Amino acid sequence: MNFVGSHILSVSQFDRDAVEQIFRVADRMAPYALKQRVTRVLEGAILGNMFFEPSTRTRVSFGCAFNLLGGEVRETTEIKASAIAKGESFYDTARVLSGYSDVIVMRHEREGSVAEFSEASRVPVLNGGDGANEHPSQALLDLYTIRKEMEAQGKDMEHLRIALIGDLKNGRAVHSLCKLLTLYSDVHFTLVSPTELRLPGDYIEQMRSAGHKVVETDQLLSSIAHADILYVTRTQEERFSDAAEAEKYKGLFRLNQSIYTEFCEPNTVIMHPLPRDSRAEASELDNDMNENPNLAIFRQTDNGVIIRMALFALILDIVDQVDQHAREVNWFTAKRF
Ligand code: CP
Repeated sequence: MNFVGSHILSVSQFDRDAVEQIFRVADRMAPYALKQRVTRVLEGAILGNMFFEPSTRTRVSFGCAFNLLGGEVRETTEIKASAIAKGESFYDTARVLSGYSDVIVMRHEREGSVAEFSEASRVPVLNGGDGANEHPSQALLDLYTIRKEMEAQGKDMEHLRIALIGDLKNGRAVHSLCKLLTLYSDVHFTLVSPTELRLPGDYIEQMRSAGHKVVETDQLLSSIAHADILYVTRTQEERFSDAAEAEKYKGLFRLNQSIYTEFCEPNTVIMHPLPRDSRAEASELDNDMNENPNLAIFRQTDNGVIIRMALFALILDIVDQVDQHAREVNWFTAKRF
């Protein structure tokens, strides 16, 4: 795949080679994310970071990734802070903002919105999440994390056993991750959700037709015993037209340390795209797991910076220039990993 100048809208754009290429570049970005070295390769470049839905990790880590490569970030957050609130079209907004930016990241509540925006943009656009549809950079950082966690246990990515838990209907991170995992061999998917929040059928069809085993269930405890990865998700309440309806599903598949100790294999890795809903009535992933060494959620968020740096480096064609513009850090750096 030629990344240079490309929009990144869906993980369907990637084959296995493209994913491996991103991961190789990500490995090269690690010293900069770890503050072992500084590079100014993108000095003068501007990222337009447009988040029309709430975000902590995706917005800030895309911004940090661009800053770590030496570029500047201009943010728009919330529709009401944009002229879209005055009726401006995506077409006009895209034409204007792509005149100010070298690359744009966009999140919006509507499926297909980022693709529509990209059609009018004069610079590459990356999908930071479009409704319940896709979240490509999240899936890449999740897959990168899975690979690292498996490597640390002396395992590879083939024959992976993964249980995806929660709101699989509305979770865009799950949608993109399931598509990416189909690129590997003989994955065993266990999909744990309420009947009403099952993974849409076209994803399951794609996974099965690629030769993977898929089991659907609404039983948590019997599903987590033989998994390498538990990928826990939040009830996506913002996708429900009726808030009371979302409440029905909160706390149904709660994972805590005592359940983990009783039902999981000792090395089972726990992941979550975050945010986790830590309110008492939801609490899908309890805080009593925070000291569990197999809890990978903050390794995921750290890897998000590295993956997003790799995407910028490939799209803006500076992979081989990063080290030429590097120097040592000249401030105290705390241990970050
Ligand atoms: N995982 C994720 O998309 O988190 P944010 O909503 O905080 O960006």
